[in-house]
Formats: sequence, structure tokens, C-alpha cells
Amino acid sequence: MAEKISVSNSAVLLTGESGTGKELFAHAIHQNSSREQFPFVRINCASIPEHLLESELFGYDEGAFTGAKKGGKRGKFELANFGTIFLDEIGDMPLSMQSKLLRVLQEGEVERVGGQKPKTIDVRIIAATHRNLEKMIEEGTFRQDLYYRLNVIKLEIPPLRERKEDIPYIATYLLNKLEKKFHRHGINLTNRVISKLQQHNWPGNIRELENVLERAVNVLEGNTIDIVHLPLYLRENVHFLSEKQKVYVDYNNHSDSFPTLKETLSLVEKQAIINALQLSNGNKLEASKLLGIGKTSLYDKCKQYNIK
Ligand SMILES: Nc1ncnc2c1ncn2[C@@H]1O[C@H](COP(=O)(O)OP(=O)(O)OP(=O)(O)O)[C@@H](O)[C@H]1O
Ligand SMILES: [Mg+2]
Repeated sequence: MAEKISVSNSAVLLTGESGTGKELFAHAIHQNSSREQFPFVRINCASIPEHLLESELFGYDEGAFTGAKKGGKRGKFELANFGTIFLDEIGDMPLSMQSKLLRVLQEGEVERVGGQKPKTIDVRIIAATHRNLEKMIEEGTFRQDLYYRLNVIKLEIPPLRERKEDIPYIATYLLNKLEKKFHRHGINLTNRVISKLQQHNWPGNIRELENVLERAVNVLEGNTIDIVHLPLYLRENVHFLSEKQKVYVDYNNHSDSFPTLKETLSLVEKQAIINALQLSNGNKLEASKLLGIGKTSLYDKCKQYNIK
């Protein structure tokens, strides 16, 4: 879809959770368009203070305000002329700026701060946000008319957990990139690691996957990435699952009466503590951190469950 629409001049709205690749898509769309020879200018609407945003976007003329540079300054829109402007984190743009942006989009011309006459510009707009703009419109924090202007072509990038079949391909691509960075080659993943990666729910999406693989390459001695090279939080959850399954199997085999919820929870709690202590080599402070409880609370529970 992104490839198909890259040749058009219509505005694009990229949505998706953090780390799903919105910026990567914006670049790819520009690179694949006839504007490729012209600038791709990114502006992060969330990180520029409101009072500077207008002059950043539209520029200013000499003498527009105290401290204004001699000769004035071109804004991002002028810089992006004939190219693409990428309005990142558009959901964080203040309402007052939203009105000004809308005017530019409608009229195709920008006016510098303190400027005399507007200048016609030809830019393609790509906007991105991880926010829910429809909800923001309902709440009155995002202008509906601006939304319609931006939302001509909407690309929703799904979170990684909803396209787990992509994980082997993306991981291979990322490993290739890491090999170049670390001057290595021939690094591969075991099938166990791939299925472990596919079990995780990736709140940080591809950025998180990149971090996990980079970490693995750092601790790797040979060429094969295995479970031990994954960070604890990825290994741990499977420990926990398999133990839970064991508890369930134990009951099926040895007990006539169904366990109460309380009994099951205690067993799972006990097993989680044992797992954490094993992972931390018996270090109680580290185990309590893994479990997200206080050290005193861990001591109490060890006593309660008779864990030495
Ligand atoms: N399909 C993909 N293949 C390979 N790498 C990818 C892919 N998608 C994203 N990445 C990489 O993942 C990282 C995060 O992507 P990007 O910065 O585009 O995400 P984003 O959606 O803009 O996130 P945020 O909302 O946090 O700004 C980048 O390093 C990017 O190169
Ligand atoms: Mg981004």
C-alpha cells in the first residue's frame, strides 16, 4: 500500500504504536516518489515549544521580533519545497498551530512571521502520530477539519504482536544491520529463540526487537543466538508459563478434588519466587526486584512457603 501511494501527491497519515516504523515508512514513501531528489524535512511537533513552532514551520522576516536573525530565516515548509514535509507527532501540535497549519494546507502558501506577502509552496505532507486522533477530536483537542485534510490516505501500521509471522524476516534483516555495525558475520538465531520472540507481546515493537538483538550480539561469544542471550524479562515469562502448566498437570494427576483459587494462586506464587531465586542465584534483593516486590515482603513469603 505504501509503495502504491508513494507516487501520489496526496497527504498521508501514518498511525501506529510507538516503534512500529512510522518514520521509516515516511522515508520510504518519499524515497519512492518523484520528489526523491528534493528535501525530506522532518519536524517533531512534540518537541518544539509552542512559541517557536510557528517560526520553525513558516520562518520569519528580518526584524520580526527581537533576536530575529539578520535577513530572516526560512521555515521548514520553504526548506521542503518540491519535497516532502514530515509532521511527526502531529497529535501533540497545539490547537492554535493546528489552525495555522490548516490554512497552509488549504491555500498552498506560507507566510513568514512578520512577513509581507505569502509565498506559494509545493510540498507533500506526511503526518504521523501514536495518538488516537478520532478520540482527540471528540475531546476537542484536535481539529476535525485538519484531520480531514491530513487523513486523505491513512496507513495504519500494526503492532508487532499482530504480525508475529514477520518476526523471523525482520529479525534477520536487523541482524544483518548489526553485523555491519559490529563487524561480524554469520550470526544466526536458534528456532527456540525465534519461537520465544514470537511469544513476547512487544510493547516497544520493532524498536524493542532491535534492542533485544543488539543486546544479544553484545553478549554473544560464538555465532548462534540462543535463549541465554536474551534479556531476563524475555526468558522469565516462559519459565513462569511452564511452571504454571506443571501446577495444572500435577493437579490433574494427583488430586481428586479441584483446588481452590487460593490454593492455585499460592502454588503459582511459590513457584514464581523459586524461579526468581534460581535466576538470581539465590540473591534475595535481585529476586525481589525481578518479582517487583519489596525485599521484606520476599523474606516474609519465603518463610510462609518454607523456601530456604
Ligand atoms: N519493517 C521494519 N524493518 C526493519 N526495521 C524497522 C521496520 N520498522 C521499523 N524499523 C526500525 O525500528 C525502529 C523504530 O522505527 P520508527 O522510528 O520508524 O518508529 P515510530 O513508529 O516512528 O516510533 P515512535 O512512535 O516511537 O516515534 C527504527 O530503528 C526503524 O529503523
Ligand atoms: Mg517516530
